[in-house]
Amino acid sequence: MTVYASKNWNIQVATLEDLDALVALEEACFSVPWSRRNFEAELEGNQFSHVFIVPHSEYGHKIQVIGYMCAWMVFEEIRFLNLAVHQEFRRLGLATQLISQALHIGIEEGCCRGMLEVRASNQAAKNLYESFHFQEYATRKAYYTRPTEDGILMTLEPLVPPSSERRYERGRLVGSQASIHTIS
Ligand SMILES: CC(C)(COP(=O)(O)OP(=O)(O)OC[C@H]1O[C@@H](n2cnc3c(N)ncnc32)[C@H](O)[C@@H]1OP(=O)(O)O)[C@@H](O)C(=O)NCCC(=O)NCCS
Repeated sequence: MTVYASKNWNIQVATLEDLDALVALEEACFSVPWSRRNFEAELEGNQFSHVFIVPHSEYGHKIQVIGYMCAWMVFEEIRFLNLAVHQEFRRLGLATQLISQALHIGIEEGCCRGMLEVRASNQAAKNLYESFHFQEYATRKAYYTRPTEDGILMTLEPLVPPSSERRYERGRLVGSQASIHTIS
């Protein structure tokens, strides 16, 4: 039997050299994307900020970064600021792995609570966060623009280390980013 499985993604800490790729990914994923300046501020001016990327495995590919996340670890709290995965690489566990990475680091750094905000209509993201047991606790009316929409605040408390294997057994294959295991 052949099973297609997404591999463990190669998560790296972003640097200023990744700016162009981050801006390109952000613009492809959001109606109100972060600007280059926003990313610069996260990468060089903010001691609490952690920006993780997953580079394309093929060096020189036109999509250089296929996913990223930005989280602040502020004393007892992890604040998830932004998360995006390129359209072509979705439903392969990449966002799950980025969140897991942030949770592991946050727990190591002594954080005990996770916080985030998500568009009310973003069911994909809400499902993702709920899979980590984030719970909705408040609504910010008309918080988002383009289109105008409520923001849903979600929290996870206490922080629990995610189990790293839980996503990677499912079968899917995408280009060079996936591996094939044969089970006899
Ligand atoms: C939301 C997003 C980051 C998810 O990334 P991803 O790498 O595809 O997510 P994963 O593969 O780790 O998915 C994990 C779980 O999230 C949920 N999920 C993800 N995409 C979903 C979708 N399109 N519809 C329903 N549930 C979805 C599912 O529960 C999924 O588990 P499953 O595949 O076993 O059903 C991605 O769709 C994205 O970049 N969207 C645009 C930007 C965005 O909305 N960012 C979040 C801002 S708060």
